[in-house]
Parts: sequence; C-alpha cells; structure tokens
Amino acid sequence: MPSEKILIIGAGGQIGVELVLALRAALGNNQVIASDLKKEVHPLLADGPYVTLDATDGAAITALIQKEKITQVYLLAAMLSATGEKMPMKAWEVNMGSLLQLLEIGVQEKLNKIYWPSSIAVFGTTTPRVETPQATIIEPTTVYGISKYAGELWCQYYQKRYKLDVRGLRYPGLISWKSAPGGGTTDYAVEIYHEALKSGHYTSFLSENTYLPMMFMDDAIRATIELMEAPAAQLSTGMAYNVGAMSFSPKEIAAAIQQHIPDFRISYAPDFRQDIANTWPQSIDDSTARKDWNWKPEFDLNRMTETMLYNLKKKG
Ligand code: NAD
Ligand code: SER
Repeated sequence: MPSEKILIIGAGGQIGVELVLALRAALGNNQVIASDLKKEVHPLLADGPYVTLDATDGAAITALIQKEKITQVYLLAAMLSATGEKMPMKAWEVNMGSLLQLLEIGVQEKLNKIYWPSSIAVFGTTTPRVETPQATIIEPTTVYGISKYAGELWCQYYQKRYKLDVRGLRYPGLISWKSAPGGGTTDYAVEIYHEALKSGHYTSFLSENTYLPMMFMDDAIRATIELMEAPAAQLSTGMAYNVGAMSFSPKEIAAAIQQHIPDFRISYAPDFRQDIANTWPQSIDDSTARKDWNWKPEFDLNRMTETMLYNLKKKG
C-alpha cells in the first residue's frame, strides 16, 4: 500500500497504539495520522502526526480527510463491553454513531478502504459456545455486542449497495504490554500479568473455569494488516471474520504464570463481568479466515506468558 494515507480514529487505546506503530513502520511516520478524543498524545505515538478528534464529529473527520488527502480510515474508537453496560445509550451513540457517519463519509470522499473491528461479543447464549462458527445464530445480549452486530450488518450493506471496501475482524480478548486495555470483560488476562510482577497475587473478576477466546496483540495486529492487504476477490464474507488463537481460563493463565513465578497466587471474586463472559464463546472456529486470507496465529498461552512477563519486567 505505498501511496496510501491513513487516519486512525481511537488511536490512543489498546489496539490503536500498536496498530499505528506497525503501520508507520510499514508506510512511514507521516503516512499515518493518529487521532483520539484524548488531548495528550500517547508517548509511543509522538514520532508522527497526532490530532485530537471526536469519532462522532463527522464534519471534523470530513475536513481532516480532505485536508490530508486520506485514502483509508481505521475506526477503533468505541466503548467496550464492561463500560458499555454502565452507560448503554452512550455506548450505542459512540459505537454506532461513529460508524454510520464514517460509512457515509467513506462513500462521499471515495475512501479506498475502511477498517472497523467487531468482537466475539456479537455472539450470545443461543450460539454454540465451543468452536463457534463464522456464520451461526447471533443474538448478543450486551449493548456492546448489539452495536457490533448491527455495525457488521451496516458494513455489509455499504459494501453491497455502494461498493465501499469496508473490512473487519471479530477480535477475541486481546493481551498486550505496550498499551493498557480500556474497559473490557477480557481485561483480567492483562491485569493478571501486571499484578503477578507487582504483588505476586491477583483477584480475578471472572471465575476459575471461565474459558474465553484470547489473542496476543502481535497476532491481532498482523491479522488486521493481512486482512486489509488481502485481495478483495478472496474475501467470501461481508461480515467481520472470526479469528482465533487460544482459549484459556483464569486458572490456566495463573498456572502458566506460576511456571515463571512459582509463588504467584490467584483468588476469585466474580462481578458483573462474569455475566457477560457467560454469554460469550469459549473458543472460535476461524476456518473461513484461514481459507480466505491464510490466517494463522503464532502465539499460544506459554509463548505469550513468556513475552508478557519479559517485556513488563523490562519496562518496569
Ligand atoms: P480502547 O478502549 O483501549 O481504546 C479506544 C480508544 O478510543 C481510546 O483511546 C478512547 O480514548 C478512544 N475514544 C473513545 N471514544 C472516542 C470518541 N468519541 N472519539 C475519539 N476517540 C474515542 O479499545 P481497544 O481495545 O483499543 O479497541 C479498539 C476497537 O477494537 C474497538 O472497536 C473494540 O470494540 C475492538 N475490540 C477490542 C478488543 C480488545 O480485546 N481490546 C476485542 C474485540 C474488539
Ligand atoms: N475484549 C473485549 C471486551 O471484553 C471483547 O470485545 O469487551
């Protein structure tokens, strides 16, 4: 994508920071404009252009696209599952309002491509929970999941009706050390590494045998870029792709940490996020992504644990 100029909206979050770094490394710092509601630029993003921008401000987004001759937009701004349940109407406004405006802008400004991530949160209790298929019963119960499923359908509508190239992945819970997570049900799997190093103990807000699909951030960033680079003719679904990497429970991640920190202890105090987790898949069938654009994860629980502990310890 040598001549592409990219705008990332919601770039100051867990995925955004690492995605900006990866795209800047591939395209050059000035080809990737990072933006977020946050006034202060994340330290890792200071080497390139940064703009304070509200994802729901369509006029400001259009003006920036025209001024900077943007050809692709990645819309990452969202309210995640746990925060969304605390303020459902606000979550809908941010998640859906920002997407609908961007789809319209995409048509008007003739954007080459849009990226909009979905989530395993689209699935609900009526979905098969083990090896959840790409196409299955989808009845989400959280406002976050409802917004992601409705958003996928809108993306598909714009592809079909306006030939807008908009793509997405249903990310599992993402685990990273460079940037912090922002209010999800899967955040325990990041917090646990920090607490293992800091205090040697972690109280999990999910119960010991709660299995969820998870992925290390390096795999998630690679999946995103591979999907965006895949020839359109290879993509067999207009919905977001299932992508899998690993599935584990709090008890199992604790055991993986104990391989490195034998005195580490975990206890359990499930809260409202347990009710959300109980409606999500335990593992994902990502065979459509594997077939269409050769998706293959590289990190399992042990490799991720080694990498997380090494880097967090080094970071201090
Ligand atoms: P995050 O909460 O870490 O980051 C979101 C960023 O968006 C934040 O920096 C926030 O300041 C910004 N933001 C919020 N409202 C905004 C607005 N109105 N205008 C501009 N910026 C705004 O989230 P993330 O984990 O980086 O997730 C990015 C996307 O990926 C979201 O759509 C999320 O639903 C999806 N996703 C994430 C995960 C995960 O585990 N992290 C899993 C599945 C899907
Ligand atoms: N990690 C996200 C969350 O827990 C899943 O989309 O909300």
